[in-house]
Amino acid sequence: MGVEKEEEVTRGGIRTVEPRPRKGVSSRIVDWLEKAVVYLTYDKSKPQHYLSGNFAPVADETPPCTDLIVRGSLPECLNGEFVRVGPNPKFVPVAGYHWFDGDGMVHGMRIKDGKATYVSRYVKTSRLKQEEFFGGAKFMKIGDLKGLFGLFMVNMQILRAKLKVLDVSYGIGTGNTALIYHHGKLLALSEADKPYVLKVLEDGDLQTLGMLDYDKRLAHSFTAHPKVDPFTDEMFTFGYAHTQPYLTYRVITKDGEILDPVPITIPAPVMIHDFAITENYAIFMDLPLYFQPKEMVKGQLIFTFDPTKKARFGILPRYSKSEAQIRWFELPNCFIFHNANAWEEGDEVVLITCRLENPDLDMVNGAVKEKLENFKNELYEMRFNLKSGAASQKQLSVSAVDFPRINESYTGRKSEVNVIDAKTMSPDPVAVVELPNRVPYGFHAFFVTESSF
Ligand SMILES: [Fe+2]
Repeated sequence: MGVEKEEEVTRGGIRTVEPRPRKGVSSRIVDWLEKAVVYLTYDKSKPQHYLSGNFAPVADETPPCTDLIVRGSLPECLNGEFVRVGPNPKFVPVAGYHWFDGDGMVHGMRIKDGKATYVSRYVKTSRLKQEEFFGGAKFMKIGDLKGLFGLFMVNMQILRAKLKVLDVSYGIGTGNTALIYHHGKLLALSEADKPYVLKVLEDGDLQTLGMLDYDKRLAHSFTAHPKVDPFTDEMFTFGYAHTQPYLTYRVITKDGEILDPVPITIPAPVMIHDFAITENYAIFMDLPLYFQPKEMVKGQLIFTFDPTKKARFGILPRYSKSEAQIRWFELPNCFIFHNANAWEEGDEVVLITCRLENPDLDMVNGAVKEKLENFKNELYEMRFNLKSGAASQKQLSVSAVDFPRINESYTGRKSEVNVIDAKTMSPDPVAVVELPNRVPYGFHAFFVTESSF
């Protein structure tokens, strides 16, 4: 019976997520302690910008809502589901809230034979299931990880895990950041956790099947931005951590087999949101946005940017079994959330990326809105010469550019960069579909073709 159950819960590398949180005296004591400290030390008077306006979550999921009104006409050949994921906190936060904190909700638009169906479903994470069990927010939030209060909230999380009030054996991620399709699976990703597998049903509904841990061969977190090579169907990915190894590179074959981990040495734990591939290389970014829990004592957020440090880029032959052949390049200080694409040109590796100066994760936190206007991100071309060791960069745009998308059949290969002024794009869409519900602002989107269901 035990063996059968084990087979059942790990089929296809997908682990059924069945956390076992515990209510009881210890749970109530921790809740009481947290409430008291929040009441005495946390200023709740300021409104949470990232919970208001169109950042505010929608109250419920929407089951498939068919035959939506379409103005214009949807092309007959466009069959599939457009899915977009974003944060939609189910429960009111105990104290702070950062835009990155919300439970992942996927909004889907099923398009078939010129008709449209809308659906929204939570990614059924271990975190969400446990908070549903308690009927309230229980997990640590980035929005709280600031100052002495942040240290206290970290300890609340540790205490709840130690007392087995919360079950952290499936991780504590939200699945709220991005979606990718590989080896027949649609994955909902958040960078501090493993992927969650979603299934698109024929009626457009979205079902969470479980967590993908590749039959327990994946033991670390998994970026929200892995790359699928369109020519080989392999998936290239990495995870970063607060303990050694701070960065681990992985290759997943076209048959869905994850190869052995390749630890990459970097001097300190940093936040790494994205990376890039070319036909022969993987490009890693070691940028000075440090994980520094001790800085919280000084009133800082847990991730702090050091403008005195260089930006480092590591280039590794992409099938390397170790980091022995990695080459590191330095460029002026910056942070990067998203790369657009990369390719090889002679001895050079070219990276097209959205470069930020002086990032502050506090910009998208709490009540602060004004700081967002200081968000200065521009499209850059960076070149790394593997023969001479030289690195250079060139600014390609002046306006704020981020969340770039490319034709993914050019991932890792040379593609043209066209920066379009969104204000002058044709104002006439082919079709407009009226949605039955408001869709809050979110992060990344993806189109799943019908043949992928
Ligand atoms: Fe992203």
